[in-house]
Amino acid sequence: MKVLVLTGGFHPEMPREEIKSLGVKIEIKEGSIVVGEVSGWERLKKLGYSHLVLEYLGKFQAEEDLPFDPEEHIKGSFAARFKKIDFSDNFDKVKNRILERLNPHIEEVDLDSPDTVLYFLLKDEQVYCGKLLHEFDASEFRKREPEFRPFSRPVSLPPREARCWINLSGITEGERLLDPFCGPGGIVMEGSLMGYKAYGSDSEGEMVSGCRINLNYYNADDQIRKCDVQNLGEIWNRKFDAVVTDPPYGRSSRIRGGKLEDLYKKALDEIHGVLSPQGRLVIGAPERLNIEDLVENSRFKKRKKFKERVHGDLSREVFVLEKT
Ligand SMILES: C[S@@+](CC[C@H](N)C(=O)[O-])C[C@H]1O[C@@H](n2cnc3c(N)ncnc32)[C@H](O)[C@@H]1O
Repeated sequence: MKVLVLTGGFHPEMPREEIKSLGVKIEIKEGSIVVGEVSGWERLKKLGYSHLVLEYLGKFQAEEDLPFDPEEHIKGSFAARFKKIDFSDNFDKVKNRILERLNPHIEEVDLDSPDTVLYFLLKDEQVYCGKLLHEFDASEFRKREPEFRPFSRPVSLPPREARCWINLSGITEGERLLDPFCGPGGIVMEGSLMGYKAYGSDSEGEMVSGCRINLNYYNADDQIRKCDVQNLGEIWNRKFDAVVTDPPYGRSSRIRGGKLEDLYKKALDEIHGVLSPQGRLVIGAPERLNIEDLVENSRFKKRKKFKERVHGDLSREVFVLEKT
């Protein structure tokens, strides 16, 4: 099926890479609009950095005919929705023109719970259209933001970001995910709610118990152990299909294991040992630490690297790594 995904402005590259990681062969990239071919679109419900998933019905200039047959797509009660994304033409005029063309094919309008929703995204004098498959509920993500969790620590990844990192790992249905610096559980929680077998460990007892409280509160599975990253292989004694993690940056969260650089070095080594041969590691690191050299001298090879600002003068790099 051809899909249109409307991404958010969370990062210039990560939302598209996330979409690709879920198996979409991208054909059109126009700012926040991504169009591509995918088989089994349901897995796109796991996206973190997107707003909408539509069945793509084509694009047209405002004055042209609709690029699809409304009879074929409008079934039962109906609603049309319009979004303006960098569109300088007269929005209301274009909207009314589209509604006039749809009117003869509409039997019942239901704006609250329609059977069919068609979206028209107006961008750069073009109208992209599609039938709604999935809309991400921002309020659901908000409920799981660090400040709303029963055990709250600012060092935790927000839910949309955690999902994006997990998707970048390429993990698939039924596979095992580990966060060996799980803290309050931002990554483990999303991994579990996305349907993966999610495991977490942390060197601090307070984090282990706090993480369990959070997982329990959001009805996510509890597979958390107390473990310093240097004992990873010994404590877990099993392989994982993906490791997604955000170690401490040496600012607000506690570091066990001496210097930050030594901790990352040790972590890369131990994670390599518990990762399955085809497994991927997604790992965050403060930009100032510059772990590129550590990665080059490790048994991983770099697949992707993204930069992002965290807050104030703190920027991080997110690496997607594969076993060599
Ligand atoms: C940035 S927090 C992790 C946040 C977590 N990924 C989330 O999204 O909620 C870093 C965590 O690493 C833990 N930590 C520090 N040194 C460690 C070590 N040597 N082994 C395991 N965990 C360690 C800290 O206790 C802290 O909870």
